[in-house]
Amino acid sequence: MAKALEQLKIEAKKDLARAQTLEVLDGIFRTYLGRKGDLTLVLRSLAKLPKAKRKTIGSKANALRDFLMQEIEQKKTGFLKKEALRLASLAQGKWLDVSAPGKKIETGHLHPITLVQRKAQEIFQSMGFEIADGPEIEDEWHNFDALNIPKNHPARDMWDTFWLKEPKGGQRSKVKGQKLLLRTHTSPVQIRYMETHTPPLRIIAPGRIFRYEATDARHEINFYQLEGLMVGKKVSAANFKAVIEEFYRRFFGKDAKVRFRPSYFPFTEPSFEVDMAYNAGWMEMMGAGMVHPNVFKAVHYNPQDWQGFAFGMGLDRLAMIQYKVNDIRLFYGGDLRFLQQF
Ligand code: FA5
Repeated sequence: MAKALEQLKIEAKKDLARAQTLEVLDGIFRTYLGRKGDLTLVLRSLAKLPKAKRKTIGSKANALRDFLMQEIEQKKTGFLKKEALRLASLAQGKWLDVSAPGKKIETGHLHPITLVQRKAQEIFQSMGFEIADGPEIEDEWHNFDALNIPKNHPARDMWDTFWLKEPKGGQRSKVKGQKLLLRTHTSPVQIRYMETHTPPLRIIAPGRIFRYEATDARHEINFYQLEGLMVGKKVSAANFKAVIEEFYRRFFGKDAKVRFRPSYFPFTEPSFEVDMAYNAGWMEMMGAGMVHPNVFKAVHYNPQDWQGFAFGMGLDRLAMIQYKVNDIRLFYGGDLRFLQQF
């Protein structure tokens, strides 16, 4: 019996050493200490042994039981700890604190120039102006000639131009022999619109334009203008003044201070410039005037029948005043700290 107990101990130790899971440990418990376990049977049979043997075998069997129980318990605690750690580390990445404040989702927003463009469009649309569009790559005819600025005319120097190279294969613009350029103002949209529509008409044409000139706080090489054109039988300079004053009042409020100055543009006669009070001085906001008869002739309108006003306002200048930005170059710097303010 003593030998059998020794053998049991050796096997139990081997089994314990191999055990890696709680299930296996439970199996070992049942094998040795369960109701019909090997050691349980030994312990039960003690009663049948003679008294002298009962004592020695009994104490050995009890010692083995205590040993097994202690070992199993110890291993179990170890396994449980390991499992708890594994679950904790798994949960670490997945833990969701439903009471934590949410993260703000970054959404895109409109550029300040787009904001002022839309506001200006709405005002003019409410005054009956439709929106027209034209290409950023223009030909000489639309950008200059049809606007009464023929080749070699000194007025071409008013707009320093980015000329495009002749594309391979010699594919010039639609008008034969015309050089292509990046439009220097939105005025060519006037021509394109009048070429395809009959008067009377009232349009605005917002868009991007390009000038080959030095930049400073009020000048960029690429910026935005909003062109306006109204043609009718009796459209006068007084109408122009009324529309523009109403526009600035609606845009900046009734205290908006503007002034009209005489100026020169080849495509208007008479011509004006409009300034707005800005930083204790004035800022030039737009060029304008009554459409020149030669422009009407270029689009086959009879200047005896039709008259109109046209203007080209700088949208960047509007944004500068609206948002109190005193350097136009900030709009194009792409600095998010600047752009996120709008
Ligand atoms: C013109 O471009 C004319 N086409 C305007 C016009 C249209 C006159 C219709 C008559 C009839 P000008 O070059 O002055 O004109 O530009 C018009 C406006 O654009 C200026 O008053 C100014 O507000 C803005 N502007 C001009 N150059 C720049 C620049 N480099 N950067 C930012 N804004 C500019």
